[in-house]
Amino acid sequence: MQKLMVTGGAGFIGSNFVRHVLRTYPDVHVLVYDKMTYAGNLDNLKDVAEDYAERYSFERGDIADAARVDEVMQQCRIDTIVNFAAETHVDRSLMGADSFIRTDVFGTYVLLEAAKTYDIERYHQVSTDEVYGQVLEGASLETDPLHTRSPYSASKAGGDLMCIAYHESFGLPVTITRGSNNIGPYQYPEKVVPLFVTNAIDDLPLPLYGDGRQMRDYQYVLDHCEGIDVVLHKGQPGEIYNVGTEVETENIVMTHAILDLLGKPYSLIQPVTDRPGHDRRYSIHCAKLRALGWRSRHTFEQAIEKTVRWYVENEWWWRKIKNGEYIEYYRKQYAGRGI
Ligand code: NAD
Ligand code: TYD
Repeated sequence: MQKLMVTGGAGFIGSNFVRHVLRTYPDVHVLVYDKMTYAGNLDNLKDVAEDYAERYSFERGDIADAARVDEVMQQCRIDTIVNFAAETHVDRSLMGADSFIRTDVFGTYVLLEAAKTYDIERYHQVSTDEVYGQVLEGASLETDPLHTRSPYSASKAGGDLMCIAYHESFGLPVTITRGSNNIGPYQYPEKVVPLFVTNAIDDLPLPLYGDGRQMRDYQYVLDHCEGIDVVLHKGQPGEIYNVGTEVETENIVMTHAILDLLGKPYSLIQPVTDRPGHDRRYSIHCAKLRALGWRSRHTFEQAIEKTVRWYVENEWWWRKIKNGEYIEYYRKQYAGRGI
């Protein structure tokens, strides 16, 4: 891996991954290719552009635009692709799934075609534990069937299946990781943790869906990035690896932790109408990735503490996001649900 293209690298996890790679591998050049949707933000890469100017570059483009992908692949002689580019928010997928199918399914196909044309060393697909669907008991293995229930998870599953098809049909060296919920710096404040932290700082209500007893495996974003790195270096082509802490936390417990860390009252919690088709619980086994030498390095308590601290110390980053498109989305999303 010398010339790495990180698609969706201006988003939350992608930007953390870019920083991790440039810090860790002095011989790697990273090209970020990103459409810059509402979730793409060059502030996420501000320090990277300054600190690694000679090994980092940025190209704006859509992964579903085959001609543009081809142009960039050829110009930059890319040998590895890590695909983070996606529409990622379940609630937005319930409002309209068009862009999810276009990016998460069709865009993945376009990248796989380019990977095949240029005969690259590795194509890595960043996927999610949500493709297994809700898991009321036990935990999902990589071999388990997919049981998607939201347009978001269905489109991610479509991308995964296409990746496997390209490995089986054309021998493309594809790997897939399925990560649990990430938290940490630079997460767009539509996702529950940055939404609740930034609302609580401003003494605004925290809209908790349903009974608040849904469970997620909240992992620190750098642990996930290290997992992807390990799979890139030690994973077997054609294989899928789950990435998470293997500990699930109820949303109400996560919410109390945020309020406790900020010294804010629980009265800020505002129960709202539940999300339609809300997956009750996700849970994954990660022994396959641990066998490659990877370990999750943050407990939920450590991850949430670091995350809250980052948002407290980096108001410059999130205050400018919470206007314009964001306010419009927020109104549409929460109006009439009890908030
Ligand atoms: P994000 O929404 O913060 O960022 C997505 C990025 O992709 C943005 O920079 C956006 O501009 C870009 N993008 C969107 N459509 C594009 C297109 N057509 N062409 C090029 N760029 C495009 O997402 P995230 O939370 O960082 O998630 C990154 C990846 O990780 C996604 O594939 C997601 O499914 C997966 N994932 C996320 C989580 C999580 O908890 N956030 C957990 C597991 C897996
Ligand atoms: P989210 O961050 O949207 O991730 P995902 O649904 O992809 O796991 O939501 C995480 C959990 O938090 C999920 O159970 C839904 C819940 N949630 C709320 O209770 N209130 C909110 O405003 C949001 C956005 C999510």
